[in-house]
Amino acid sequence: MGRIVYVHGQFVPEEEARIGLFDRGFLFGDSVYEVTAVIGGRMIDNDLHLARLERSLKELDIPIAFSRETIAGIQAELIARNDLLDGTVYLQVSRGEADRDFFYSDALAPRLIGFTQAKVLAGTKAQQNGIAVDLAVDPRWQRRDIKTTMLLAQVMAKQAARARGFDDVWLVEDGLVTEGASSTAHLITADGRILTRPASRATLPGCTQRALARLCAAEGLTIEERAFTPEEAQGAAEAFQTSASSLVMPIVRIGETVVGDGKPGPMTRRLQALYLEAAGVPA
Ligand code: PDD
Repeated sequence: MGRIVYVHGQFVPEEEARIGLFDRGFLFGDSVYEVTAVIGGRMIDNDLHLARLERSLKELDIPIAFSRETIAGIQAELIARNDLLDGTVYLQVSRGEADRDFFYSDALAPRLIGFTQAKVLAGTKAQQNGIAVDLAVDPRWQRRDIKTTMLLAQVMAKQAARARGFDDVWLVEDGLVTEGASSTAHLITADGRILTRPASRATLPGCTQRALARLCAAEGLTIEERAFTPEEAQGAAEAFQTSASSLVMPIVRIGETVVGDGKPGPMTRRLQALYLEAAGVPA
């Protein structure tokens, strides 16, 4: 692959990158992360991602050892050094390294790593045709508003969905959709209202969703914040999910139920176009 990655203050070839055996991110999942979309060499909604990174660190009582400008500079350098045009830039901050102990000391030095992944994000086949999502019980902990690297629940849910022939999975708790395994879930009602679940500890506050909400407001459209059931989603006029790595992704089947006429609907198309235009992608 031959990328240049960032590890603990240095840009190095990925083959030479090393993290410590006693890094708490590795031993306890005691670390947080962000994924920012890069389109045409430009980061999309990165201010929102860096603000959420700071919030995640604060919630876990990990000192913020790097300014937003420093981190944005590292991201930009990773993009430049890897000639990244389209893909993602990943950041991870762990609490630091110490001998294995559940208790942590306040004196640990947080560890920042970063790397890029090349991937076409806009105009993919999946975005054109839509995808099918499975439904599964949400098995995660109760602080999903923090973007931690404890992702095994999502890994298992996605892998099980794929084995059942689906592209992705929406998670359900107490009879309500929480979110996608790595995305924010949305539906469009028969009377054209866009619904998404209100912010709480049950879901990650999506940056793509926030950016889209702003764009919608400028268009006179509102995204109504209300939780919905899987059945309501299956009976919706349209459904879609948002994330940095999939942007605005139409959902054409939920479980065994085809959504609408089984094709991405007009409102989803409009929101896709709105988002891509703001991201500077030529129509
Ligand atoms: N995941 N909910 C969960 C559980 C997520 O993991 C993500 C993003 C989102 C959407 O957030 P955003 O719009 O800020 O990307 C919602 C990233 C892409 C990942 O883990 O790769």
